[in-house]
Amino acid sequence: MSNLSLDCKNLKSFVSDQEVNDLQPQVNLCHDGLKRGTGKGSDYLGWSSLPSEFSDSVAADITSTADSIRSICDAFIVVGIGGSYLGSRAGISYLSSSFSNQFGRQGGPEIYFAGQNISSDYHADLFDLIEGRDICLNVISKSGTTTESAIAFRLLKEMIEKKYGTDGARDRIVVTTDSSRGALKSLADELGYRTFVIPDDVGGRYSVLTPVGLFPMAVAGIDIRELMEGASQGETLYSNPSMDQNDAYYYATVRHLLYQKGKTTEILATFQPAFHYLADWWKQLAGESEGKDLKGIFPSSVEFTSDLHSMGQWIQEGKRNIFETFLVLESSRRQLKIPAFKNDADGLNYLAGETLDTVNEKAWLGTACAHKEGSVPNMTLKIKDRSPYSLGQIFYFFERAVAMTGYLNGVNPFDQPGVEFYKKNMFKLLGKPGF
Ligand code: PA5
Repeated sequence: MSNLSLDCKNLKSFVSDQEVNDLQPQVNLCHDGLKRGTGKGSDYLGWSSLPSEFSDSVAADITSTADSIRSICDAFIVVGIGGSYLGSRAGISYLSSSFSNQFGRQGGPEIYFAGQNISSDYHADLFDLIEGRDICLNVISKSGTTTESAIAFRLLKEMIEKKYGTDGARDRIVVTTDSSRGALKSLADELGYRTFVIPDDVGGRYSVLTPVGLFPMAVAGIDIRELMEGASQGETLYSNPSMDQNDAYYYATVRHLLYQKGKTTEILATFQPAFHYLADWWKQLAGESEGKDLKGIFPSSVEFTSDLHSMGQWIQEGKRNIFETFLVLESSRRQLKIPAFKNDADGLNYLAGETLDTVNEKAWLGTACAHKEGSVPNMTLKIKDRSPYSLGQIFYFFERAVAMTGYLNGVNPFDQPGVEFYKKNMFKLLGKPGF
């Protein structure tokens, strides 16, 4: 049974069944490329079989290290940027209480993120916050040379060493990096840090189901075995070449068709604040994978109903180059009911006894209909619940779909050459040797 279902009825007047079916042969070819490793970027297809290859020993290794970290710290810092941070942040916020750092997370540490920017104020504020707490950190970088995360790691390493000494720091620093290359790997070897490996054939933005995403999530108290079971279910469901049995490929195909019809921006619209970082993870996955060779859907996101009071105007009546994908949660963990007021001064008694879920659902249905009427093609990915199982399936769904859309559009969805341009300029301006 799938925990996800794709509802495309609001696309019918924009994309016909015939147009979708006509693309099945091309989907078959792209699927073959992914399966046999004959397509572009085939050195980076390791993500596709991570769930089925996930072993008990890897799970035990991650959870036992996470347990020992949880037992010695009350603040845990994840240091990384891009694919080395967005997946764990997405997973932790998807599965945790909205205010878990304030309320404590099942006896585990508060979780913070560093090195995803170079803001002095952000990092200084973070250091103020963790001053006096017991700290551990996980620095994550596949290349081991990324400037943002390397700077944050330097600062935090110095702070931890001052507090616990070099030997004490060794128990508190966990490194996730390449198996053999990079400055971070050399440092970890030299100082004897506990290390997790990012497989060579898995790129940054496809790495959430490796220790890159799994270890921080385990420290946050998330059941990573259940998450990988959901991902494994995703691998089974979304590795089927037939679009009528594979929602990920169906989604990829309609995205491609809409793009060809001039709908060049996709808006991922959520109705749950817990999905905020999932949308950020998706934007990186889609943006870095598809945006190249002067092509690609521009991925953006909004959080409804909040953004209906800001971006809603643009979406309803602005330039018609957009389509929308709603992420809808079918059932909240807890139900709140609207109370009845004696005098009904606010006129809300017509909703007395209704749950917030019911109102949120009607907001989605009303929005989807209004946007369709406003010529915004839209579809909905319904998600059963906020469980690790569903989350694992979501991660795999989008990885498959984005890889397929990239192939349908003729680009390599597994490289990111454009990311180097700002770095070269920045290094030159900073006077880095060799630039
Ligand atoms: O998807 C990618 O490859 C990038 O977004 C990287 O994850 C990001 O640039 C961080 O790189 P690294 O893990 O090498 O520090």
